[in-house]
Amino acid sequence: MTTLNAPLLNNRSISSKPIRNTEIEELALQARLNAGGTVEDESEMTERYRNVLIATISIAADLEVMTLPMQHNALFKSNSIDERIALASALQDEMGHAHVMFRLLEDFGIDTQELIFERAPENFKTFYNLEWEPVDAISTAIGHIMGDLAGYITTLDLEQNCSYGPYARSLRKVNFEENFHVKRGEYSVRWFMSLGPEIRKRVQKQIDDTFPRTAEWFGTTDDVKSRTDQLHYRVRGHSNDQLRQQWLARVVPFCEEVGLKVPAHFDEQRGIYVLDYQLPILYDEKLEKWDFQTVTWKEKIAQWKRGGPFKIPALTRLQQELWGNSLW
Ligand SMILES: [Fe+2]
Ligand SMILES: [Fe+2]
Repeated sequence: MTTLNAPLLNNRSISSKPIRNTEIEELALQARLNAGGTVEDESEMTERYRNVLIATISIAADLEVMTLPMQHNALFKSNSIDERIALASALQDEMGHAHVMFRLLEDFGIDTQELIFERAPENFKTFYNLEWEPVDAISTAIGHIMGDLAGYITTLDLEQNCSYGPYARSLRKVNFEENFHVKRGEYSVRWFMSLGPEIRKRVQKQIDDTFPRTAEWFGTTDDVKSRTDQLHYRVRGHSNDQLRQQWLARVVPFCEEVGLKVPAHFDEQRGIYVLDYQLPILYDEKLEKWDFQTVTWKEKIAQWKRGGPFKIPALTRLQQELWGNSLW
């Protein structure tokens, strides 16, 4: 996503230690990374490397911490105590993930207390897909099979490829848990699909809404992405389109298997999954549906920047701990 390379956090929160690197230091780091080497400490980084690494971890941290305020009300819409326990467990995992990532940022002198509780909500780097509140148990389950899967694919790539060793290693546990969230969603969706035509229709309606929103989680297509420091420094291993392909390769067969329609298919000739529409497209927030007409990336990015309806309320809920005594 262009936002994966988004501008850094406000300067107050980042240590202002000046780092100036020579071209030789840049080339030496690059050669080391190309040979498969890792970076273990801030002292081994060039300023450019440090910037892209902090931006990457910061966005991942914001996405993790957003899950609790976004899904908090869904806890109380669970169909059973089993569902509620499973969701509470997943949200506790997510808070653990947020803790891991904000803790890593502290190694760079960043004040994470300030970052979470005093930053203006509009400055959090959450994604459009995470700015919509699940309305019932069905949309929560669809969120797991699509949104958690997108998150899992993103963090699995970081675990397997990130050149900053402490970050890559910290993601092993995170990824076991993310995959469990996806599996829980798949289990729930299978169950909903067994409950008759009325429920199946509701599941399909939610898919129609959520699928395009999650397909754009991976950001702009590779032909328009201009900043590639993440790949240049092997902070991550795969491009936006490659990650989107991995996501499609799991979610499309699952949906087809359980009888859900998605606007994507396997292209036999090319040997890859393709969307049935061309990115980017816009969500009509008044009509509450996607307009499948291709627009410019400028228009799409403007919609992402405006944000979904639940971004500010969710972050306000988090910062003011508005759940009171009923967190779980
Ligand atoms: Fe997570
Ligand atoms: Fe998750």
